[in-house]
Amino acid sequence: MKKKVIRLGVIGGGDFSEYHLNGIAKVSNAEAVAICDINRESALLRAKQFDIPEDSVYTDYHDLLARDDIDAVTIPLPDQLHKEATIAALRAGKHVLCEKPMALDLDECKEMIRVARECGKQLMVGQIGRYSPMYVEVERIIKSGLIGDLFMIESEYAHDYSEISGNGAPWRKTPEREPVIGGGCHAVDLIRMMAGNPTEVFAYANNKCLTDWPIHDCTMAVMKLPNGVIGKVMTSTGCKRNYTMRSVAYGTKGTLIFNDVDATFSLFRGQFSEDEIFDRYKQRELEIKVPVEVDSHNFGGEVEDFCNSLLNDQPVPTPGEEGAATVAVCLAIVESFKTGEKVVPDYNFD
Ligand SMILES: NC(=O)c1ccc[n+]([C@@H]2O[C@H](COP(=O)([O-])OP(=O)(O)OC[C@H]3O[C@@H](n4cnc5c(N)ncnc54)[C@H](O)[C@@H]3O)[C@@H](O)[C@H]2O)c1
Repeated sequence: MKKKVIRLGVIGGGDFSEYHLNGIAKVSNAEAVAICDINRESALLRAKQFDIPEDSVYTDYHDLLARDDIDAVTIPLPDQLHKEATIAALRAGKHVLCEKPMALDLDECKEMIRVARECGKQLMVGQIGRYSPMYVEVERIIKSGLIGDLFMIESEYAHDYSEISGNGAPWRKTPEREPVIGGGCHAVDLIRMMAGNPTEVFAYANNKCLTDWPIHDCTMAVMKLPNGVIGKVMTSTGCKRNYTMRSVAYGTKGTLIFNDVDATFSLFRGQFSEDEIFDRYKQRELEIKVPVEVDSHNFGGEVEDFCNSLLNDQPVPTPGEEGAATVAVCLAIVESFKTGEKVVPDYNFD
């Protein structure tokens, strides 16, 4: 009989593992059967929360990977550990759903892709924005042609990290984890999802908020996209405001303003009669508020797609090459603000 459920181990029992386990619990084609964290208390806490038996709690992921009854793993580990854990899992014969950013440099991404190919196992990178109902709907509208020919798309990732600095996650506070890679990768990936791969980027950055962090807490990047579209991505991890990923897609016949934490997005249409052109009130009415489900971190949708691909022997939707392409753009942005030059992202992952 055909297998219907993928048995998963979760490697990493920190904050985001709760999203992984919640998501897994929501879908019918996945089951969390084991968890690992070097901190046994963290792993035990999650195990208790999600009914994982105590004898399936590990502090060394190699022990979890040695189990024959586990098909695949999800990896919510610090970014710096993604490569090592992914490769160990692939070599142990497991499929992998690795958190974003895939890694903090391209050599690591290439190695992860190479080992997945060598082992004949699937590697998916969790670009969770692709599962946000808001972004899925906006992408559908752009691709339908309703707002005409896209000419500019912008996204911002603004998230005050001063609250999460220090004790909780010191791995976030390292020079190689520039915010545009760590968190801004969501906005970069959104641009790629909706408008394709940037062919050139130019960026500026500064550090005025998290002054004790060895990174640039604000980055502004502009980019050339296919079909003459211009892209813009702002990342700020020191800003004093609530979290946002406000984004705008400008087309020749309309504009979309959207943010995955809102319950509606705005659609502006440029079609009005001559009488209306001079009536400012009516022009404002051209903004249509479209309701949409709010689910900015839809891990359930992500893991369901991952498991469906495995069960049906189909390629996963965001394989290593996709995760690596987003890292490539982020790294090009970092190189640009460091050198003051335009940079062409490197999409060769062989
Ligand atoms: N998709 C998203 O929107 C999103 C949101 C938050 C975090 N993330 C990503 O998820 C990952 C985890 O983030 P987090 O917020 O849960 O971090 P965290 O620091 O809260 O958790 C990481 C956990 O890994 C454990 N750990 C460290 N080394 C280990 C090892 N060798 N073996 C086993 N466990 C080990 C730590 O003890 C900790 O509990 C990161 O890659 C982060 O970028 C993604």
